[in-house]
This record gives sequence, structure tokens and C-alpha cells, in this order.
Amino acid sequence: MAKILKLKVWRGGRDGAFEIYELPRHDSQTILDAVTYVQRWIDPTLSYRFSCRVGMCGSCAMTVNGKARWTCRTTVSSVIEEDLLEVAPLRNLPVIKDLVCDMTRFFENWDETGIPDTDLAFNLTWHDWINLKNLILVSRAITAPAPARENSCGAHYRADFPNEAVAERSEYVSVISRDGRFDLARHPVQFTRVRPGESLIKNAAA
Ligand code: FES
Repeated sequence: MAKILKLKVWRGGRDGAFEIYELPRHDSQTILDAVTYVQRWIDPTLSYRFSCRVGMCGSCAMTVNGKARWTCRTTVSSVIEEDLLEVAPLRNLPVIKDLVCDMTRFFENWDETGIPDTDLAFNLTWHDWINLKNLILVSRAITAPAPARENSCGAHYRADFPNEAVAERSEYVSVISRDGRFDLARHPVQFTRVRPGESLIKNAAA
């Protein structure tokens, strides 16, 4: 008979409460696997964060049986007590919802850490942090114009795309990051190299 895991999960904001879910228990199951099971198969409204799933980004951190842990690296079997596992948001940050905390203060503190001007040695951790911040900024810039788009015929025009919008009215959206916000602007697409229905590949139309 399949083993059952009882997972006690924090729901709501700081004044929320625990709810208990029962789910299948497996060998090598991580805490993140268990939380994901609840969200996929029991209650899709459960909010939590994760990204890399390989113990690098730290975004999956939660309080597990009273201790802060990276849930993608922590197996259920290594921390379970009396067949019950308790998963809550991190304790030292404001709770947004369920297992998701507001990380603003954490990142502000990290920014203030910095490196002294006198220490110009290459610091891999600090460079990773700068890279990560830039990647997040670029990802936000890529997703910001999505709600402003009205068609997909601009630079992605394809003759076989089943949208009959007029290519001459195609627009693209530019994004400029300024003072912590994104300014969006629409521009008409200038077909300077090739027009819809044409190809730069010789005899491609043949
Ligand atoms: S998801 Fe990145 S450390 Fe867990």
C-alpha cells in the first residue's frame, strides 16, 4: 500500500493558519516535491516560489519543522517527525501569501553589504549577485510589454500565421527601465530588410 505523507502547510498572510494535506510519499521526495504535489493536484491556489530546483538560487527557502531550509535540497525523510511535516514561510520576512515572502528587505540588505573600495579582488559571489540581478531585470523587461501587445505580426510575421492582421500596421513595443519602472512605447515596424512574404534566401519561394 502506498505510503501517505501528512503535510501541514501555512495558508494565508501572517495571520493565516495551517492546513493539513495528505499526499503520496516517495523515496527521495523533497519538500519542494511535496509542496508542488499539493499545488498541482490538491489546491492550485497554493502560492510558493522556486526556480533552479538544484540548490543554487535559494528562492525555494521555507521554514520546515521550525528551521529555514532550501526545500529543493531537503528530502522529506531527512526532516520528517512522526509522519508529519510542517512547512511555513520564512519567519524574518513579511508574508505575502501562503509560502511566499516579500524579499525586498532581504535584497536591500544584500545591496548594502557591497565590497569595500579597498578590496578590488575578484569576488565570485558578488559577481554572481550582480549577474542574477541583471538577469532578473532583463526577464522583467521582456515580460513587461506582453500585456501591451495587440498582435504578434511584428518581427515575428509568418505567412502561415493564422492571424489576418495587416503587416503594414505592425508595431513593436520598446521598454526603457527608468527610476525603477518600465516605460513602454509602441513603434511601427519598418520592413527595411525583407517584407512579409519575401525571403532573403535565394529561390526560397520556388
Ligand atoms: S529552487 Fe533554487 S535553491 Fe531551491
